[in-house]
Amino acid sequence: MHLPLFALCFSALDTLSIIRPVSGSLSGKVNLPCFFSTIPTSAPVISPSGAAVSGSDYLRIKWTKIVGNVESTVLVAQNGVIKIGSSYRNRVSVPSHPKDVGDASLTMVKLRASDAGTYRCEVMYGIEDTEDTVNLDVSGVVFHYRASSSRYTFDYHTAVQTCHDIGATIATYDQLKAAYEDGFDQCDAGWLADQTVRYPITNPRKGCFGNLLSKPGVRSYGTKKPTETYDVYCYVDKLDGEVYYAPVTHKMTFEEASEECKKRSAVLATTGQLHAAWRQGLDQCDYGWLSDGSARHPVAVRRLKCGGGLLGVRTMYRYRNQTGFPESTKKLGAYCFKGESSLSHTPFCVFTANSRFSASG
Ligand SMILES: *[C@@H]1O[C@H](CO)[C@@H](O)[C@H](O)[C@H]1NC(C)=O
Repeated sequence: MHLPLFALCFSALDTLSIIRPVSGSLSGKVNLPCFFSTIPTSAPVISPSGAAVSGSDYLRIKWTKIVGNVESTVLVAQNGVIKIGSSYRNRVSVPSHPKDVGDASLTMVKLRASDAGTYRCEVMYGIEDTEDTVNLDVSGVVFHYRASSSRYTFDYHTAVQTCHDIGATIATYDQLKAAYEDGFDQCDAGWLADQTVRYPITNPRKGCFGNLLSKPGVRSYGTKKPTETYDVYCYVDKLDGEVYYAPVTHKMTFEEASEECKKRSAVLATTGQLHAAWRQGLDQCDYGWLSDGSARHPVAVRRLKCGGGLLGVRTMYRYRNQTGFPESTKKLGAYCFKGESSLSHTPFCVFTANSRFSASG
């Protein structure tokens, strides 16, 4: 279960507001709210350096990201000059006339999973100082998918349908790019929604140079005829339920695993659901059956003895060349999925979709 966190925020006006976390999806756009009072402060102000600054004109907006005790700069806007932290270049902005509206909200685009976290805005306007904290969640994961039969077997239409069948959608280029920025590396060409074929390489190596040679980046074969065949990159957003490893001590064939989930009023999870669950922190070192007949396990905590020190959903292949799902008689665990409607779930706060500063109740 995944309950929202709430930040308590005190502004300079001593008002208390409760902000829900802002949620965005991989490669999407969010607005991190930050408002300040526009009541003009007319008296000139002496800054700490001794220089007189005009009270009504001086405006400084500063956005930082807080990780532990470390604050890193996202954006600083002062007297029409804007400075942006390197990993936010071309991705963040504030309103062009913040004084007119008292709005210093940060717009962030091309969201990455690594953007999730706590942000602080500080607004200095005349003699007023306003400070607020906002939490950001980023959902969604891109994953590589290969048919049970062999490598590179999907034409474009089958690729689209296959992602759908495993509880996902075919990934867009922007989603793959965002996943790449977070470190996704996969040396297998796959279809994307725009009918191009690409693959993400953060660690360039022989056999994976593509069109970028030794530079990191998303390799592209360009737009391909829909009849050509490749693997596919799929995308899955938030999980609308719960995925868990069936807590039984014995191992099961594919059929037995399916029965085991049914006994629990659940079903075998799809490969898409397992990836979404991994993204939300599911960690299990045992291979389990999924509804498409594949066997995988999610590694959310890095350990050498599980997944070779790599993070992600590990796939069990039948052959050494990384093709084929296991034979269905193989004895493994089971990943079950239970939908949201069948879970008891009491929201403890309700907000309207567009409210930014919402007091509870
Ligand atoms: C992978 O290995 C299997 C078994 O050795 C073989 O039948 C299959 O053709 C291979 N596939 C590829 C894509 O090399």
